[in-house]
Amino acid sequence: MTKVITYGTFDLFHEGHYNLLKKAKALGDWLIVGVTTDSFDLQRGKLNTCNNVMERIEAVKATGLADQIIIEEYRGQKIDDIHRYGVDIFAIGSDWTGYFDYLKEFCQVVYLPRTEGISSTQLRDERPTVEIGIIGTGSIARRFVKEAGFVASNSVTTAYNPDKKECQAFCEEFGLKPSASSKALFGKCNAVYIASPHYTHYEYAKAALEAGKHVLCETPLVLKEAEAKELFKIAKDKGLVLMMAHKTAYCPAFGHLVTLLQSGAIGEIVDIKAATTTLTDGKDAKMDSARFGGSMNENGCFPLLPIFRLLGTDYKKCYFVSKYKDGVDIFTKGIIFTDSASATFEVGLGAKTEGSLVVSGTKGYAYVPAPWWKTSYFELRYEDQNQNKKYFYPFDGEGLRYEIKEFVSAILANGYFYSKLPVGEILAMSRIQEEFLNGKKVRILK
Ligand code: CTP
Repeated sequence: MTKVITYGTFDLFHEGHYNLLKKAKALGDWLIVGVTTDSFDLQRGKLNTCNNVMERIEAVKATGLADQIIIEEYRGQKIDDIHRYGVDIFAIGSDWTGYFDYLKEFCQVVYLPRTEGISSTQLRDERPTVEIGIIGTGSIARRFVKEAGFVASNSVTTAYNPDKKECQAFCEEFGLKPSASSKALFGKCNAVYIASPHYTHYEYAKAALEAGKHVLCETPLVLKEAEAKELFKIAKDKGLVLMMAHKTAYCPAFGHLVTLLQSGAIGEIVDIKAATTTLTDGKDAKMDSARFGGSMNENGCFPLLPIFRLLGTDYKKCYFVSKYKDGVDIFTKGIIFTDSASATFEVGLGAKTEGSLVVSGTKGYAYVPAPWWKTSYFELRYEDQNQNKKYFYPFDGEGLRYEIKEFVSAILANGYFYSKLPVGEILAMSRIQEEFLNGKKVRILK
């Protein structure tokens, strides 16, 4: 029996893919098709795929041409697969001519003629574009525009800031059309990125959703749980995407850390320690009490992410200890308990500490070095150090491109979308913010 293997992303499955599989199948008796995983595509810098790995596998399966489908998840896997499956022929489209000659040492390599005039790239370019309007034109919005340029199927078209001068300068810098009001902005886009001060998020997000716009909102989404619930209800009723722009939640390393720990890599989780401190000038708006500044409001969503993801959102108690200056918490420590585990977190704008994440388990622990919230690397550590493992991932640019990709994909998927940051976790984060702001469980240090 002659075994043939071929690989591809097979995004937006098209005629060229079908023809290639047919030709590959004709070379032998058994066709193995390797489909790249989403994280492998990310590692290869393919940030623009429209279908996720399950959809791409389904598309290959639907052709009825593949006798076996495998996933390709790491560089160098092709050699392993050739040995593992006893492959006779490696086949790939002619756009790769010469590139895979190194496999000739292991099997026959065939470059098949490519179908002219069609490609996933071309189909992606023909897809509708999500037009994004930005509310708030500060430093994060600046980074957002640059990062959006790395993601397919979107364009940032307009911006709004009540400070007209600032808005004008921002729009000039990025070649956007300024909007005179948020209402005017809604008329010029189909999705809104909210990067305004925290206390304005609720009003803007609600207005945008009511105007039929998808919303990506900076952390914290809102400062009260009821407001978060209301926004998600409007989004659901109107079939709109509402996401929190939490860069850690969408970055490849964090996603894999979570799945490793959920699959028992360190045993049962008993404790989490996470800190996110970003030392800030006292004059910064982030430290302005009138604008709901402060460490918890500014940074709280970061350490709460691994805590809720790994321990669940059904916590029993949460206490805070804070140090205040000029009406805002320059440092807050929080303690959370569930029935079976504890967690402590630290956030600061006016105090600095080691910004690592440590997840302790009954068999070992995970260590993510500072700044863990934009990590490309973590370790699993055990009593027997020979068992320790190090994991490396891409974290390109400012990392915002991962959340922008999710947002754009969610909109274009028309409802068939699984969010990497579930609503329940966002509601729990808003609940904690609210508990902190009502002050009952906050011990204030001198
Ligand atoms: N292929 C082909 N003819 C086309 C497009 C792709 O024969 N018109 C082949 C590729 O050479 C490869 C396989 O299909 O062997 C899977 O390719 P993939 O990279 O998934 O598809 P592309 O359309 O080339 O994707 P992209 O535009 O993202 O590069």
